[in-house]
Amino acid sequence: MQDIETRKDVEFLVGTFYQAVIRDDMIGFFFTDIARIDLSQHLPKMYNFWESILLGNPVYEGNPMRVHFPINDVVALEDKHFNRWLQIWEKTVHDHFEGHNAETAITRALNIARIMSYKMQNARNHG
Ligand code: HEM
Repeated sequence: MQDIETRKDVEFLVGTFYQAVIRDDMIGFFFTDIARIDLSQHLPKMYNFWESILLGNPVYEGNPMRVHFPINDVVALEDKHFNRWLQIWEKTVHDHFEGHNAETAITRALNIARIMSYKMQNARNHG
């Protein structure tokens, strides 16, 4: 197996992840029913986000935290949801890639998810 090395690899990884995540029985509804995302708009942002992190090309412009607050206002984004998200991410990465960038994809997602979960909980308690 190869590492995540090109934009094409990132697109494959993120695209495969989203196919699983939107069908997931615990968290799929956040994407399909709460945020009602248009994948043709959403996926390119996610490709850019991960290309910035994994390939070091600063193509993502945006705030990865901000969009999650309005979702959290409708249905609480809790640890169990982040854990499921991470589980699907880790499986998707390990099913297709191995190497330094593959491990970075997993550890960065874990760190961001921890911060995001904390911020969501804080917003529910004090927001
Ligand atoms: C259960 C956990 C999560 C759910 C349900 C979720 C759901 C969503 C949804 C529905 C959007 C689209 C929002 C919109 O365009 O209105 C979004 C955007 C995004 N999410 Fe998540 N997310 C989760 C966790 C994460 C994690 C852990 C990361 C990072 C590792 C992440 C990174 C992003 C980024 C970068 C965007 C795009 C922000 C932009 O528009 O620039 N999400 N998420």
